[in-house]
Amino acid sequence: MDGLIKNHKKQPKYLLKLLLINLFLLPCLIYANSAPQVKDKPLSPLDLQLEPIQPLFSLKGLNPDKTALGERLFNEPRLAHNNDMSCASCHILKSGGADCPEKAQGQDGVELGANSLTVFNSSLNHRLFWDGRAKTLEEQIDFVITAPHEFATQWPVLISKLKRDREYQKSFGTLYSDGITAANVRNAIATFERSLITVNSRFDQYLRGDVDSINALEKSGYRLFKDYGCIACHQGRNVGGNMFQKLGVIEEFFDDDRLSGKRGLGRFNVTGQERDRYVFRVPSLRLVALTSPYFHNGSAETLYDAVKIMAKYQLGRTIPDADIEHIIAFLKTLPGEYQGQPLSRVYEETTFSEPEGQTR
Ligand code: HEC
Ligand code: HEC
Repeated sequence: MDGLIKNHKKQPKYLLKLLLINLFLLPCLIYANSAPQVKDKPLSPLDLQLEPIQPLFSLKGLNPDKTALGERLFNEPRLAHNNDMSCASCHILKSGGADCPEKAQGQDGVELGANSLTVFNSSLNHRLFWDGRAKTLEEQIDFVITAPHEFATQWPVLISKLKRDREYQKSFGTLYSDGITAANVRNAIATFERSLITVNSRFDQYLRGDVDSINALEKSGYRLFKDYGCIACHQGRNVGGNMFQKLGVIEEFFDDDRLSGKRGLGRFNVTGQERDRYVFRVPSLRLVALTSPYFHNGSAETLYDAVKIMAKYQLGRTIPDADIEHIIAFLKTLPGEYQGQPLSRVYEETTFSEPEGQTR
């Protein structure tokens, strides 16, 4: 691994790539800085259109019966080979939807090796997983079903299990002309996931014109988020999730300690292309206030650490602590509600077994 990294540094292409990335970032930064600044009077519809972050809204037109069936499947332990793990084991909806540390062990007793991502708002991301290896929510489910440390099963086995359940027979029979099939299970779960949008955050209320829904400190945090250039990568409705970027754009992030295992290679694992080494899908920051630890490998425990690392390696800046505090205050205004309730982190309910000595 050591050799690989050193060789990589020596490549003449490397400097060119850095230049290209910066050329890409520059217009974004200029745009970010020219975007309307944080206002104390309500944003006009035009101001709102120019904001680099847009409010979330629930998807209309989802079939409520499919959503309900998907919710049941999301909580169904029989999806797993040993009937003892469901999607909800690792994605607890009450607490932010990303609930297992990368060191948690899966079905096969092997560590997951990746920090979990939230299922909330995941339908808004252009690709799924840290390395973007799934293109759609449906495709993402295939990975979970067969992964040895997740459900460790195969579709035919799973389908025959579900077919023995009268309730499932009935629900699928009513909703899908061909009854219980892999495609229909995927469709139901993905439909449920598309319903998981965290609307009405305090920040969205601000964008929609309620200037008092965030305070002066939080407004300053948003201004700094734009001014420092975080917005160049974390932007749009989901405050991220719409592009790939290298971790370590300005300063090389990975060394032997940090690159523990293959996961750190990021998108390189998917494409095998040199330019994708250490490249990740930029994560959404919508629920980041609730989903510690941070980064693909969970290496940052706190938001403070995560923001500091971002400033150094993605922007080449050292941000004063006071500014970090404001940025964190802004990030805390981003989570919205699920089923009319504000989301908050509930550690006690984590059902996923953590290895000895791992407490959070
Ligand atoms: C054993 C724990 C575990 C189980 C069980 C599990 N997940 Fe995950 N999930 C994770 C981890 C860890 C990641 C991040 C993995 C990666 O990116 O390589 C993830 C990522 C995801 C993502 C990607 C989100 C994004 O923004 O890219 C979605 C969607 C998701 N899971 C949905 C599901 C669904 C649906 C199920 C059930 C069919 C499920 N998960 C079961 C741990 C789990
Ligand atoms: C050049 C693009 C880029 C810029 C600029 C950038 N980020 Fe990131 N950010 C990323 C990527 C890529 C990751 C994922 C890293 C990983 O997978 O380990 C990330 C991850 C994060 C995370 C952890 C999210 C999670 O769920 O674990 C936080 C928090 C974060 N960024 C905040 C910020 C802040 C605050 C700034 C500005 C100071 C910033 N970022 C600037 C690309 C960027």
